[in-house]
Order: sequence, then C-alpha cells, then structure tokens
Amino acid sequence: MFKSPNTHSKYTHSKFTRRKLTHSKYTHSKYTRRQFTLRLLQSALGAIAVTIPGVLGAQSPQPLRIGIIGSGNIGGAVGLRWAAAGHHILFSSRNPDELAELVQQASPNARAGMPIDAVEFGDVIFIAVPYAALPQVGRDFAAMMQGKIVIDCGNPYPRRDGEMAQAALDKGTGVASAEYLPGVRLVRAFNAIGYQSVHDKHHRDGALVAIPIAGDDQAAVAVTVNLVIDAGFEPVVVGALARAREFDQGSAVYVQDLTAAELRAALQL
Ligand SMILES: NC(=O)c1ccc[n+]([C@@H]2O[C@H](COP(=O)([O-])OP(=O)(O)OC[C@H]3O[C@@H](n4cnc5c(N)ncnc54)[C@H](OP(=O)(O)O)[C@@H]3O)[C@@H](O)[C@H]2O)c1
Repeated sequence: MFKSPNTHSKYTHSKFTRRKLTHSKYTHSKYTRRQFTLRLLQSALGAIAVTIPGVLGAQSPQPLRIGIIGSGNIGGAVGLRWAAAGHHILFSSRNPDELAELVQQASPNARAGMPIDAVEFGDVIFIAVPYAALPQVGRDFAAMMQGKIVIDCGNPYPRRDGEMAQAALDKGTGVASAEYLPGVRLVRAFNAIGYQSVHDKHHRDGALVAIPIAGDDQAAVAVTVNLVIDAGFEPVVVGALARAREFDQGSAVYVQDLTAAELRAALQL
C-alpha cells in the first residue's frame, strides 16, 4: 500500500533545494544564527544525497510514518500534501469509515484508523483537533507519544473552546500545549495557515507562503522544517515553544499567507 508515487511536486529537486538554501532560515533563542545556518546547510546537503526515492521536491531524507489525529479540514489538507510528497499517512478518526474519500485522494500512501492507531503508527504525530479536545488527547495518548515528534496545529478560540482557550492564549499555545502533552517532542506549526490555503497555495509560483514554527527540541524542529517544505511552503523557525504565541490566533501574522520575508519582518526575526 505504501509505495511512493513517481512525481507530484511541480518543482524539480535541484530547484527546490536551491530555494531552501536561499530562503530558509533558522532562528532559535538557544542557538546562534550561525549555528542554525550551519545546521540548515547540513540538513540540505543530507537531503541532496538521499531524498525520498522517486519523489521530486521532497526535502525529508526518507519517507516518514505520520499519524494524524483529527483528519478534518486542516489535518486532511496537510496530510494530503505529505502523502503527495511520499510520506506514509495514517489518517485517524473516531469513525474511520468516514475517511474513505480522503484515503482515496491520498492513495497509495494512506490508510485510515482510530486515533490510537495513528499514535502507534507515527514516527511523527500531527494533532489537528479542536483545542478543547487537546486535554483529552493528552490524557489518552501522551504516555504513548513519549519520544515521538508531535506537531500541534490547534488554535484556541474562546467562543468555540471555552475558558481553557483564553487561558491558553494568555500563556501562549507553545506553553499550554506542552502542559497538555507532557514528555512529547512538541512542535507548533501549521496553525497559522487556513486549510484552503494549504489546498490552493502549496508550491505556488513566486515567493512561497511561509509557515512559522516553534519548538524546544531542535531535531524535532528540523524534521518539521523538512515537512513544511515537503508540503509546499517555506519554513520560518521563530524560536522556542514560548515564542509560539507570536503566531497564535489573534496575532498580526495569523492566517495572512505572508511570505517568509514578510513574516520575518513582522516578527522582527
Ligand atoms: N480549519 C483550518 O483552516 C485550520 C487551520 C489551522 C489550524 N486549525 C486548527 O486545527 C484544529 C482542527 O481544525 P479543523 O478545522 O481541521 O477542525 P475539523 O474539521 O472539525 O476537524 C477536527 C477533527 O478533530 C477530531 N476530533 C475532535 N475531537 C476529538 C477527540 N476528542 N479525539 C480525537 N479526535 C477528535 C474530529 O475527528 P472525528 O470526529 O472524525 O474523530 C475532527 O475531524 C483546530 O484547533 C483549529 O483551530 C484549523
């Protein structure tokens, strides 16, 4: 079932790598810009040597197993991009029979299961549930996700998610989500772009839409950087989890589809 497709991206590998080398940039409070640049170059050079076989434009050095908890608007849209890049996706739902169409769209790189199946399957877990459901997801699965990279894209909306959402906004989602998901290698990403833009603007011509990223685990951030590129966007590492608040719901850069240059200018990176 999990065979890599031959071609999906409209970018050739060399063009894509050049784009990454030219535009991507790491910034992280724990590390100097020079260290991040060095890591970026190392990462890019590694990707030139070993890229997902047969998939043009993929940046990750090999296909990843990605479990998605919450395969709705944004979980479905991002999962489709990753499947197109050659990653192996387990879309999950509490009613997995309802995911047949999504799995078909992601064919042959996807299947459906329950949330626990996504947790067991994934080297990387993408959590895309209403923010009010995150505490439950943490209670159910944080212990099983120890040591796994967990990318969380949930946004707290007080009108939708209640009081816990305001508390999360007050402390910032990087801090709040880490409290709900103790012990995982948490990264915040894909929260500040709408799912329709994921569908319509991936790999767009000209400057790519930027995706801000925050995380404390540098290796997890590096994997996420590659996954953002694989999805057809430009990663901008904002810094540690505590800085995720700078691109939270309600911030000036939220769902603006900014280029990386615009995003860096707005966040003074
Ligand atoms: N929509 C966007 O453009 C967008 C963009 C970026 C970030 N976000 C954020 O991403 C999150 C999801 O948004 P969405 O628009 O994709 O929502 P959605 O379309 O309603 O999908 C959310 C999914 O979460 C699952 N879910 C809900 N409660 C759950 C629980 N307790 N355990 C496991 N799964 C659960 C549901 O799956 P089942 O009922 O099938 O199990 C549902 O399909 C929100 O926090 C949102 O703010 C959304």
